Amino acid sequence: MTETHSQPAGTAPVALVTGGGNGIGAALCGKLAAAGHRVVVVDIDPEATAMVAESCGGIPFEADVADPKQNHAMVAHALERFGRLDVAVLNAGVSSDQPPDLPLDLDRYRRVLGVNIDGLAFGIDAAAPELAHHGGRILVTASLAGLGPDQANPLYALTKSAAIGYVRAIAASLEQRGVSINALCPGFTDTAILGIAGRLIRKQRFPLLTPDEVAAAALTVLTTPGTGEAWTLVAGRPTQPFAFTPLPTTLMPDGTEARFRPFLSRAPKKEDTP
Ligand SMILES: NC(=O)c1ccc[n+]([C@@H]2O[C@H](COP(=O)([O-])OP(=O)(O)OC[C@H]3O[C@@H](n4cnc5c(N)ncnc54)[C@H](O)[C@@H]3O)[C@@H](O)[C@H]2O)c1
Repeated sequence: MTETHSQPAGTAPVALVTGGGNGIGAALCGKLAAAGHRVVVVDIDPEATAMVAESCGGIPFEADVADPKQNHAMVAHALERFGRLDVAVLNAGVSSDQPPDLPLDLDRYRRVLGVNIDGLAFGIDAAAPELAHHGGRILVTASLAGLGPDQANPLYALTKSAAIGYVRAIAASLEQRGVSINALCPGFTDTAILGIAGRLIRKQRFPLLTPDEVAAAALTVLTTPGTGEAWTLVAGRPTQPFAFTPLPTTLMPDGTEARFRPFLSRAPKKEDTP
């Protein structure tokens, strides 16, 4: 259920949520509006998009996040309607519906990578330049499946571990532009994406998160300083940044530790802006 709100004032921060038409995204649209944001609800499902936009006092935008042009169009729409963008929640996602057994179904493979990986990279690319004007924040809905082996859904796990890897890898470069990025990694949540697995999970009385609980955790991540983190969330425990095991350090032939400084592109300067 989304919360009902009137449109916040014209100076309020602007948040865009992909996959905002249902489940976690819809709940988050309500919470962001309640926290004083003007909300752009983006989804491939036009009816759900319109309903959520109406209930949270936001504006709807129909887009397929797997298409780079449509990612730019959703950001352009936010700017056209509200004149700024402060928060981008890249949340749209699909399950692979691909059983773990091979052979790979190529269409399903392309679809799940298109939405869950392309949608994320294109979304960052489209939103980051505008977010950079306002010290903006990006939140990516990844999954617990990206942190541990999700043996029931390897293709989905592939996309979500890629999402976490990308968030961690791109954080330093975005930070130079004043933009933060974090991933939220929820466990099983009671939404349509679970499909038939949802019935099995419920039958085992395995505790599911509610979309509201995930949306509340998302707000916590969005309002906590820091970048490049993957926050876990499972039923019965508070959300917290995942503690990755440090990588083994490379050793020089003499046994000392080799030092490597990453080559980050320089932050854009004022004179770069046309
Ligand atoms: N439900 C869970 O158990 C769970 C757990 C961890 C992570 N997640 C992630 O949370 C996110 C939200 O999923 P949910 O659980 O709310 O499921 P959901 O199916 O209720 O919502 C997903 C939304 O994404 C939209 N969408 C799908 N393809 C799209 C596209 N190409 N372009 C734009 N919108 C598109 C759908 O129309 C839908 O509104 C997903 O990224 C999912 O992988 C879900």
